[in-house]
Amino acid sequence: MRILLTGGKGMLAQDFLSVLDQFPEFECYAPLRKELDITNQKQLESIIKNYRPEILLNCAAYTKVDKAETESAIAFSVNGTSVGKLAEACHRSRVKIVHLSTDFVFDGRNSTPVTEYNYTAPLGVYGKSKRDGEARIEASDADWLTVRTSWLFASHGNNFVRTMLRLGSERNEIKVVSDQFGSPTWTVDLALALCQLIRIDAKNYFHFGGLNSCSWFELASYTMHKAHQMGLLLNLPKVIPIQTHQYPLPAPRPPYSVLSTLRYRELTGFQPMKWETAVDSVLKRIREKSQNE
Ligand SMILES: NC(=O)c1ccc[n+]([C@@H]2O[C@H](COP(=O)([O-])OP(=O)(O)OC[C@H]3O[C@@H](n4cnc5c(N)ncnc54)[C@H](OP(=O)(O)O)[C@@H]3O)[C@@H](O)[C@H]2O)c1
Repeated sequence: MRILLTGGKGMLAQDFLSVLDQFPEFECYAPLRKELDITNQKQLESIIKNYRPEILLNCAAYTKVDKAETESAIAFSVNGTSVGKLAEACHRSRVKIVHLSTDFVFDGRNSTPVTEYNYTAPLGVYGKSKRDGEARIEASDADWLTVRTSWLFASHGNNFVRTMLRLGSERNEIKVVSDQFGSPTWTVDLALALCQLIRIDAKNYFHFGGLNSCSWFELASYTMHKAHQMGLLLNLPKVIPIQTHQYPLPAPRPPYSVLSTLRYRELTGFQPMKWETAVDSVLKRIREKSQNE
């Protein structure tokens, strides 16, 4: 099965490419952004025509949550309008579109894990632009699958676990919000889930996140302790819990965005990884990389 992957240099896309050796039935083409900018219809049509994929996996996105508050035109163009055009192009060429979305399409007022059937109510521009993309796919005639995920982290790229390691090596004390809850998700685990979902020809919405939930404060504390134990941090910094209002950011965040993975588990028979186990794996990879440097 031929997969055309957009946004191939991104955090998730890199790990999608890294797990493909476990799925010999998939062949994947990941053009560079200069060859395939998803806002460029001509490039898209030409690559679809030449490569003739069966699946278009859209990992390209505008992901700067805070910057989006002042760059709404570009956020909506990449995450909204272009996604709609991808879906239309896919429909014309009978390609299935597999798209990634986010827990930020919800307002976080729930107190139990959010299902695929919950109403969306994004708070900030990024969430609104991602919801716009979802809605455009729904309105298209394309064959589609949209996977919503949350709190991504990896041994590479821009993410919270790597930020904590950097801050932990620079400071004795770090303040982290303790009143926002979510499911930290390892991009390798998500990449494997995407492969399973593609394999079973899953359709419509699926939620996927690491097993169990925590606050940013708990994730930071666990990461620091583990990293210290593993010798990645020489000193163990003090992690201090604070409230969201004590750390104002341009974009509002949902206070609770734990995603229910029941539908994924029932349909595939697989379990997401526990977030603590996933953090352990990522720290191991980071240590291996630093030992090889
Ligand atoms: N990160 C999270 O915590 C998180 C949480 C929930 C959902 N998600 C969703 O998961 C997906 C993957 O996220 P990620 O963290 O892997 O994102 P990422 O690391 O920011 O990767 C996104 C990639 O898209 C590329 N891109 C941006 N605009 C493009 C365009 N017009 N044409 C082609 N490529 C373009 C970016 O290139 P440049 O580097 O050149 O800009 C980047 O390589 C996204 O849909 C995101 O919304 C992420």
